[in-house]
Amino acid sequence: MSADPIPLEEVLVTEREQWEDGPPHELFARMRGQCPVHWTPRITEYPEEAGFWSVTTADDVHAVSHDWRTYSSERGGVTALTNAIMPLELIRAMFIGMDPPKHDRLKALFQRGFTPKRIAEHEDEIRAITRRVLDRLEGREICDLVTDVAQPVVSRVIGSFMGIPPSDDEIWARLMNTTLGAGDPDLNPEGVETVMKRDVPEIFERCGRLIAERRERPTDDLTSVLVHAEIDGERLEEHEIVMGFFLLVAAGNDSTKATYASGMRALIEHPDQLRLLVDDPSLIPSAVEESLRMFPAFAHFRRTATRDTELGGQTIREGEKVVMWYVSSNRDESRYDDPDRFDVTRNPDHQAFGAGGRHFCLGTALARLELRILFEETLARFPLIEAAGRPEYAESPFINQLKTLPVRLRP
Ligand code: HEM
Repeated sequence: MSADPIPLEEVLVTEREQWEDGPPHELFARMRGQCPVHWTPRITEYPEEAGFWSVTTADDVHAVSHDWRTYSSERGGVTALTNAIMPLELIRAMFIGMDPPKHDRLKALFQRGFTPKRIAEHEDEIRAITRRVLDRLEGREICDLVTDVAQPVVSRVIGSFMGIPPSDDEIWARLMNTTLGAGDPDLNPEGVETVMKRDVPEIFERCGRLIAERRERPTDDLTSVLVHAEIDGERLEEHEIVMGFFLLVAAGNDSTKATYASGMRALIEHPDQLRLLVDDPSLIPSAVEESLRMFPAFAHFRRTATRDTELGGQTIREGEKVVMWYVSSNRDESRYDDPDRFDVTRNPDHQAFGAGGRHFCLGTALARLELRILFEETLARFPLIEAAGRPEYAESPFINQLKTLPVRLRP
């Protein structure tokens, strides 16, 4: 008989042991049922960080996302940790860490380039990148879908949007893995202290060079948009340009890679679902949405209360952290039948890109296109793909991703 679970009032949601093998889905199901807005008093690994409220149901995540006046992105940052890995000042230099009106003005500079129509113009180019990467697997029996397929594809796609030379893709991928996966011993072997000591200075130095080039010779990439942006007649400061660049490269790199790998793993573990897609590739867009729902690339984003308020029967005080758990809200049994079942025909709505509101993901059209192409090309070439070892999760309550997914290709 299994031991009684820890009472919810004693549970510390972000503790490392909860996340060793991916998100603690059973814990979140208990929270949704018994204590949907839940208080974690401390983060043991970072004693200087305050505790936080967890928001676990889809309705409450929706409510928080849509009320930026009560739940600020600027006041305390956007992840459960305020300052422990990167100082708040740098988080606030990205528009994901700003409130309106500055947030809206900066985001608007990019929105025109990210509409489904504009993004669709990149389909041929993204397919060519994907095919080139898959060509390199020719003759190999085993590969790692994270490092051999997903990483080089997403790096080149976002790299081409940003004006990064292809020869630098691996460097930027490393920098994103060490900063976003700071707590994981494989993604960042030297520990969280190195992020501010080594990685952030390297990001500033490398991006500084790109910025200087764009100042001299404007191009049509997104780095140039940042360099020449004017908000109320003023140019962005250097650190705002660098962090704007970081936001786009980080969001573009990590998330699509994560969803592809988790979706492929689910297909490999559910051969009936894999067969459905191989036989009828028109189901792939639905499978993409189901992968986004079940495996949201970011486990959470966070807000800070700007006033005392009520949510889910709890009183939240001004200044307290409010963490929206998309890994939970996307399996909310009041919205989904049998929420833990992976069903490629479900074509669900979900909150993987956020629940709407001001900070709704800028890159949804790009992510959906990349994921569709990645699934289409992988399955067309390797319809009999199967597992060849144990997939491993990055140890993180923020990035919800596999760091390795070994497969046997069997063309
Ligand atoms: C599977 C892929 C992706 C997922 C799951 C994802 C998820 C998210 C989430 C959850 C948010 C925050 C929403 C909120 O706080 O309400 C977000 C914001 C953002 N995403 Fe994505 N994203 C993905 C791909 C991309 C791509 C490819 C880009 C392209 C550059 C991108 C750019 C951004 C930006 C710039 C923001 C900040 C938006 C704002 O603050 O207004 N994302 N994304």
